[in-house]
Amino acid sequence: MARAGLAGAGAIRLAGVCKAGRIPRMSIGSLIRKVLGPRVFQHVGRAYRRIFVDVRKTAQVLAEIIPPGAHVVDIGGGDGEPLNCLLRLRDDITVTMIDISPVVGWMIEESLLGRVERLAGTSIRQYLQLGPRAIQAAVVSDVLHHVPPGQREAFLGDLRDLLAQGGCSLLAVKEFAPHGLRGRLGYLADRYVSGDANVRLIPPAELADLLRAALPGAHIEDTRLSRIDSPNYALRVSLATPGR
Ligand SMILES: C[S@@+](CC[C@H](N)C(=O)[O-])C[C@H]1O[C@@H](n2cnc3c(N)ncnc32)[C@H](O)[C@@H]1O
Repeated sequence: MARAGLAGAGAIRLAGVCKAGRIPRMSIGSLIRKVLGPRVFQHVGRAYRRIFVDVRKTAQVLAEIIPPGAHVVDIGGGDGEPLNCLLRLRDDITVTMIDISPVVGWMIEESLLGRVERLAGTSIRQYLQLGPRAIQAAVVSDVLHHVPPGQREAFLGDLRDLLAQGGCSLLAVKEFAPHGLRGRLGYLADRYVSGDANVRLIPPAELADLLRAALPGAHIEDTRLSRIDSPNYALRVSLATPGR
């Protein structure tokens, strides 16, 4: 999402720039990153993200629901800036970040790296192929609205297998609802700054339906994130029989 970093995975054609097809397609975010350089971009990116999400509030809510001593899989972990906050709040947890992007977790603070495994270029299916690994919690934060609607069922099917294989009983899904001015701006940022042509924001009720269909028997409840940082919200999914 644009809110997770200006340079998103998607790309749009910049009129007049890529016309000849010799210059690779680049999102506006990627172009800004190139112009500013990584150091300045990091600061600009943080300020930009704050327009849409308070990563500390998300981390507070996640910290409240992740079980003690958990090993957490952060699916679609991105740059890892929100994870820094969570790891600072919860010094008892360890995390594996996976992401289909060729880089993941590049903003994780040095002092926290010892508790983080970073698996770039790794889908849920590929992670499953590494063999059974015990996990106590899974986090999917601002990922699902980037998964094209036609692929969401398969994504959630893989997620169900991951939860079952890992014996995981807690899933947290954080999303950004298409509500109000902030919601509309968030969509435009994802679509035109990150350049993700597939982005489609998901209202909470629709997400709950998707999760109910993918994880029959799961208990789904809203968390307080929607009250403290709307239109951000997070659903807590408890699995009595993990992943089933
Ligand atoms: C908007 S970023 C969110 C990053 C981070 N979770 C956060 O909350 O800031 C979405 C991330 O999901 C990743 N992603 C998209 N589809 C994915 C998939 N099918 N499996 C794993 N990661 C995926 C993207 O590469 C991107 O890094």
